[in-house]
Amino acid sequence: MTPRAPAAWPLVGHLPRFGRDPLRFLRSLPVHGELVEVRLPGRRVFVLCHPEAARRALADGRTFDRTGPLFDRVRADMGNGLATCPYAEHRRQRLLLRPAFHRERLDHYAVVMREEAEALLGRWRHGQVIDVVAAMFGLTVSVAVRTLFSARADAATTAALRRCLDVYLRGSYTRTLLPLSAALPTPANRRFERALAQWRHYVRQIIAEARRRPTEGPDLLSALLEARDDAQSGLSEEELADQIAVLVLAGAETTSAALSWTWHLLAAHPRAEAELHAEVDSGRRDPAALEHTHRVVKESLRLYPPAWAIPRTITQETVLAGHRLPAGATLVFSPYVLHHRPDLFPGPERFRPERWLPGAMDQPARAAFLPFGAGPTRCIGESFALTETTVALTAIAAHWRLLPLPGRPVRPAARSVLAPRTLPMRLALRGTAVSSGP
Ligand code: HEM
Repeated sequence: MTPRAPAAWPLVGHLPRFGRDPLRFLRSLPVHGELVEVRLPGRRVFVLCHPEAARRALADGRTFDRTGPLFDRVRADMGNGLATCPYAEHRRQRLLLRPAFHRERLDHYAVVMREEAEALLGRWRHGQVIDVVAAMFGLTVSVAVRTLFSARADAATTAALRRCLDVYLRGSYTRTLLPLSAALPTPANRRFERALAQWRHYVRQIIAEARRRPTEGPDLLSALLEARDDAQSGLSEEELADQIAVLVLAGAETTSAALSWTWHLLAAHPRAEAELHAEVDSGRRDPAALEHTHRVVKESLRLYPPAWAIPRTITQETVLAGHRLPAGATLVFSPYVLHHRPDLFPGPERFRPERWLPGAMDQPARAAFLPFGAGPTRCIGESFALTETTVALTAIAAHWRLLPLPGRPVRPAARSVLAPRTLPMRLALRGTAVSSGP
């Protein structure tokens, strides 16, 4: 028998516990076993609590597939792109997208990332209170739109795309968790449908423009237009629009969440912040040379992995970690669960960038650090995300400190992405005093 999480209610199972505090619930699971069953209404869910079992499951995309009602919903809303496609289409799509993420393109994207970070700083005022989550999301969407489309999207279109995405991200989690709610004619669902239609309209316009003027610049869209699979066929119009939507979806909110958590953690740990300032002030810009900054980002991704729960549908009865799993059930890979196991990461709730000093961590813990997943579906945007995070952190920390507001606890919102619910912070030019009233 597969171990089951205790205290399930009749009919609703663990939904009340999960709904109240999903992270606490997840942290409680590994003591029960390597694979733990959780009951949600009408659904059997198995949560992977051991890194080895997680890696094995992620390597077998045929048995643990992106199919079933949950993924049908995501594809119907946002499209069939690399991060949402089923196993049968995955290899072709991965091949088509790979060139867009080549190293030399990343150097160009890094220039865009720096420009966008500088543009954001240009709007900041000493003493001003901002919502860091909103600011970082604005930054990563602008970077996503500009790296995807180069100069093809003007400021008004970028702003419109950002608004659509905002509505989408707020609605998508509920629609995924409770698929039946998507069919109801509620104002929220109508807003959601409208935002999606607008999003598709803008993206199609940009693609049509790119086809008319194909040599605009070294953006992702140019790479996608040139992409060819084994049979030398490219992406259709529909496929292009879907890939673009899914790339922005997979890349923007995850990276902005990582940045937001990092600011929150730095503000609460002045020693780590001071060391980061020293590194930034040394003038080093090559991300490989920014060793402490890199450790800070890793520790932030360990504590708050933005992609905190990744589902798969079990397509055929199978055995995993010694347990028989039924076809049709859901398997969940959660980096959050692995990253909070106290046997792997002692004092798992503590922010300790020094864990990542060379030789400080043993192999089992290193193997359990999976914020970007594993196997054939491992994040294709990992280097993109790490570059963007480093560029934004260093550009901002060179001049600014982000100070916490006293008496305003920061709470996580575990929706599609694990991000702070809101993160109001006061901007302070480094070396300048600022009053810290509410
Ligand atoms: C800190 C930021 C990010 C995190 C934590 C993250 C995390 C992940 C994870 C865990 C997966 C595996 C999902 C699965 O197995 O189903 C994934 C896949 C993916 N990510 Fe990211 N990601 C980040 C940023 C990005 C960025 C910036 C992009 C694009 C520019 C991107 C594009 C994708 C795509 C397309 C996939 C699907 C890959 C495939 O199935 O072959 N991600 N990401």
